[in-house]
Amino acid sequence: MIEISTTAYLWLKAWHVISFAAWMAGLFYLPRLFVYHSQTPVGSEQSDLFKVMERRLYKAIMMPAMLATVGFGLVLLLASDHLTQGWMHAKLLLVLGLVVFHFYCASWKNDFAADNNRRSQRYFRVANEIPTLLMIGIVILVIVKPF
Ligand code: HEM
Repeated sequence: MIEISTTAYLWLKAWHVISFAAWMAGLFYLPRLFVYHSQTPVGSEQSDLFKVMERRLYKAIMMPAMLATVGFGLVLLLASDHLTQGWMHAKLLLVLGLVVFHFYCASWKNDFAADNNRRSQRYFRVANEIPTLLMIGIVILVIVKPF
């Protein structure tokens, strides 16, 4: 456990929540772009525009926001005794789910970039629900701390 002041802890928590909000924005929006992109003819001008939007969203928002969320979260963990609590174990499991989903998004983006997407818009519509469900679980766990 590391010793930091209550004020420093609260500032870290604020940045943790800010970066998680930015990460979630990307996790919600990128699969939505895939829904539209999967209905666009390969090689079209529209498809090229989607490729640029997907690449920028992933590189400029999602990746830095994921690293910041996990980084701030780990410092909060080291500066508190939450690692011994059940709700935190459950939260970390759901966060792992978000990280896995994040890298699935990266792989779908790469398939689109190589004009190699074989998945339907319905597939991406269903995939879009996964981060929503994980986020609801995580927020309830950290706020309610039910166990
Ligand atoms: C490895 C990743 C993460 C770690 C280690 C981590 C750890 C922590 C810790 C230790 C706290 C402080 C809890 C407290 O003092 O009550 C916290 C707060 C919080 N975390 Fe995370 N977190 C991670 C990822 C996430 C993600 C992905 C989300 C959202 C999807 C999230 C949402 C929140 C929220 C909303 C709070 C504020 C709770 C409050 O107001 O007390 N965290 N996190």
